[in-house]
Amino acid sequence: MAIPIVYLNGAFVPQDQASVPLLDRGFMFGDGVYEVIPAYGARPFRLEQHLQRLDNSLAAIRLANPLTHDQWRRVLEVLIARNAGDDQSIYLQVTRGPAPRNHAFPDHVQPTVVALSTPLTPLAADILAHGVAAITSEDIRWKYCHIKAITLLPNVLLRQQALDAGAAEAILVRDGLVTEGAASNVFIVAQGRLITPPTGPFLLPGITRDLIIELARGNGVPCDEADIPQASLRQADEIWLSSSTREILPVTRLDDRVVSDGKPGPLWRRLYDLYQAYKQALRQPAASQH
Ligand code: PDD
Repeated sequence: MAIPIVYLNGAFVPQDQASVPLLDRGFMFGDGVYEVIPAYGARPFRLEQHLQRLDNSLAAIRLANPLTHDQWRRVLEVLIARNAGDDQSIYLQVTRGPAPRNHAFPDHVQPTVVALSTPLTPLAADILAHGVAAITSEDIRWKYCHIKAITLLPNVLLRQQALDAGAAEAILVRDGLVTEGAASNVFIVAQGRLITPPTGPFLLPGITRDLIIELARGNGVPCDEADIPQASLRQADEIWLSSSTREILPVTRLDDRVVSDGKPGPLWRRLYDLYQAYKQALRQPAASQH
C-alpha cells in the first residue's frame, strides 16, 4: 500500500518522513485540539461547521487559528487529492507547538499544524443488520467536554472498558443524566420522539448530531434536545450513537439487556436512509443541498 501523504506545518510529505519535536506541547501536555472530517466523493462533509467548531475549540484554549478557513480548505483539497480513495477520514490537529516543558503558555511559539487522511470504510453489513452493544459508564471526564481537545485519556479508558465488555461503545452518565458516548453522541427514541441531550459543557456538539436533528425535523420526525435520565435510556425504544466516522449506529444491547426487540429500529432505518441520501447529494453536486 502506498505511504499516505500528510500535511505538516505548510508541507505535504510522506507520513514516514513527517516528525514532530519531542517537546511539542501536544505530546507533553495534550495541549491541542482536533477535528475529524469525513470526505465523500472527495468532498469534505459539512466543512464549514467543522472549521467553525475548530475555531471554537481553539478560542477555548486561547490559541489563534494558524490558518484561515480558505487556507484549511486548500490544505484539505490537496490532501484528499494526494491520498487514495474517494471516501476519506481527515484528521486535523493544532497544538500549541514545541517549547521547553513548563505548564505556563510559552511566550513565542509556532503552533504545530497537522492533517492526515485515512480511508473511510462503510459500516459493515452485519452492524447495519444487527446493531451493536453498548455499556453505561460513569462520565469521569472534565467539565470542558465541548472542546474537541486531544487530551483523550478518559475517553480512551472508557472505550476500552466497553471493548473489554464485548461492546462497541460506552454511554456516559453524569449525575444521573446521559451525556454522550466515549467518542459519539447519543440519541434515544421514546414515544415516537427522537431525543438527544442538549449541548453544553458536558458534551461535544457533534456535527453528525446536528445533521440528524436537521434531517429529522425537516422530514416530520419530532426531535427534542432534552435531558435523558439513565432510567429513560434503559426504557428507550431505540438507542443510536452518532459520529463522523460511524454515522448513525443502532444500539441493540445495553449492558445486560436487549433494546426493544433486539433489532435496529424503524426510526433508525428512516434517519439512516436520509443520511445516506444526504451523502449521495454531496457526491453529486448537481443535486446537492449545499
Ligand atoms: N469523535 N462526542 C465525542 C466525545 C467524540 O469524540 C465525537 C467524535 C462525537 C461526535 O462528533 P462528530 O459527529 O462531529 O464526529 C461526540 C471523533 C470521530 C474521534 O474522536 O475520532
